[in-house]
Amino acid sequence: MIFVDACFKKETPRTPVWMMRQAGRCLPEYRETRKRVGSFINMTKNPDVICEVTLQPVDRFDVDSAILFSDILNLPMEMGLPLRFEAGVGPIFDETISSMEDIEKLNPASEKLEYVYEGVRKIRAKLDPSKALIGFAGSPWTIATYMVEGRGSKQYPKIKKMVYANPKILHKLLEVNTKETIGYLKSQIKAGANAVMVFDSWGGALEKDKFFEFSWNYMKEIASSIKSEYPEIPVILFSKGTGLYLENMVDGDFDVIGIDWNTPIEYAENIVNGRKTIQGNMDPTRLYSKEATKEAVEHIAKVMKNKPHIFNLGHGILPDTDWENVKYFVDLVKEVTSR
Ligand code: CP3
Repeated sequence: MIFVDACFKKETPRTPVWMMRQAGRCLPEYRETRKRVGSFINMTKNPDVICEVTLQPVDRFDVDSAILFSDILNLPMEMGLPLRFEAGVGPIFDETISSMEDIEKLNPASEKLEYVYEGVRKIRAKLDPSKALIGFAGSPWTIATYMVEGRGSKQYPKIKKMVYANPKILHKLLEVNTKETIGYLKSQIKAGANAVMVFDSWGGALEKDKFFEFSWNYMKEIASSIKSEYPEIPVILFSKGTGLYLENMVDGDFDVIGIDWNTPIEYAENIVNGRKTIQGNMDPTRLYSKEATKEAVEHIAKVMKNKPHIFNLGHGILPDTDWENVKYFVDLVKEVTSR
């Protein structure tokens, strides 16, 4: 698997490529499956649908890795918070966490997520052996933002009030989330995932010291727990909005560091300096134009030439992206990075 080789900084015939949020969003076949099944949450609970949707982008784009079709919010949902998705709003938890008692009521979720592990087994049985299957979870902090705010947020008023006025409650919640996440990711590995990735999408909501205290320390614990049990499984970090904190993230047990599109790739490479594989980081909105895509692919390939690199976007694909441009991006990366 050239993806796994690149995670471990081994030389590969070309740079592997895949895209965050490649499953779902821009694919017409995804929209058809969704119409057939009805609700998004029901899709994520059905192992056959998980398998079908995970393989759709692999079949269409011939990317080097599949990413499990699921959501970071299935874990808190199975911990006991009822989840729904509202058109135009996104995910909503009608019950939220605001006290120690609320946290005590949460239940262990790992076993309830059996439908995910069954999906992983089905995917691994069908996926081409040269392609990697990436399992994932949200970071303890990022899922906590939804558990406390109840929905996506721009200012994070409730959870940031906890950061400064009630840190004990928040640390307790993060400890519970960390324990659950470790169990969840290890079960995905046992079921057949070839790599795991932690999505810290809202790490950038925290100033530097608070990021290390409330997000990084818990992610670091997840990475070291997985690496001590599964040294052969790459562990990947994606933290959004934290490019300026990069120097302090190179010492963790993550094998791969994802770079968001706001962070110049040459800046990231200068800091990481070959110590870890870099994953990223084209702005996903460049996929609206082939010329803009070409410009970025050539630039990123030039900066990362002969350095450990996995080609990806700097955040998820947007839903209205033309899939033909996505195909163009994948083909171009393969062509430009062939050695
Ligand atoms: O990468 C993949 O394609 C695999 C599947 C995946 C989904 N969500 C499927 C999904 C992954 C890895 C995620 C992660 C996720 N989910 C994150 C972290 C990554 C990031 O982009 O920063 C976050 C913050 C969420 C929470 C979430 N789930 C939101 C805010 C939404 C609604 C808006 C949106 O992003 O589309 C979802 C729904 C969701 N998760 C969809 C898909 C395919 C869309 C469902 C639909 O409308 O059909």
